[in-house]
Amino acid sequence: DVAALRGIEKGSVRLAILTTVKYVVPKLLGSFAAAHPGIEVAMVVGNRGALLQRLAANQDDLYILGQPPDDWDVVCEPFADNPLVLVAPPGHPLARERAIDPRRLAGEPFILREPGSGTRATMQRFFDALGVPLRARLEVGSNEAIKQTVAGGLGLAVLSAHTVGAELALGELVQLDVQGFPLLRQWHIVYPRGKRLSPAAAAFKDWLFAHRDPAVAPAAHPVPAAARRARGRS
Ligand code: PGA
Repeated sequence: DVAALRGIEKGSVRLAILTTVKYVVPKLLGSFAAAHPGIEVAMVVGNRGALLQRLAANQDDLYILGQPPDDWDVVCEPFADNPLVLVAPPGHPLARERAIDPRRLAGEPFILREPGSGTRATMQRFFDALGVPLRARLEVGSNEAIKQTVAGGLGLAVLSAHTVGAELALGELVQLDVQGFPLLRQWHIVYPRGKRLSPAAAAFKDWLFAHRDPAVAPAAHPVPAAARRARGRS
């Protein structure tokens, strides 16, 4: 039974999560630690590029990232939706408009994430496909700093909706209603196929699935495989 398991459960889990996932998963660690006091969780936070490097080098037990490259031999379980939204400072002239044509954003200054960011790659792919040149005003390697920069009026940004919930609710940022947005992505729990998960890692993975916010679970509106492929790798 659970009480008996608690005493004997030992070990550690190394988890690597995306910069966007850190707005969601760390909150779950407290209750996991309470239920499994013998298991230690170490967590690394990085962008897509950094996590793929760690995965290739087998540095961690579990990864939470977007779509791993198709030809990588990994187990990949859909974990949550990760919609990307276009945010602006309150009072931006486009904030009152509906169904904005993305081509109208051609002249707007944008704050971009660093190369290696999956958020950046996804937005870049979206605008490239439409032939809309993006005007990069500034490159900032942090979701948190980008929010402040946008709120301060320096430009627009595309960010994971998970990172801007508080600012949108408080009115410090506004979400622009641009056609094609939100860009729909998913997070997956990923690990090398050849690697047998330790009992601690398996317990943690089960915990994540059992305790994720049902509102963001991908089953709510699954992305068809064809659409996922069309969207590319990241
Ligand atoms: P990143 O994470 O922009 O920090 O790489 C988001 C993602 O890849 O979905």
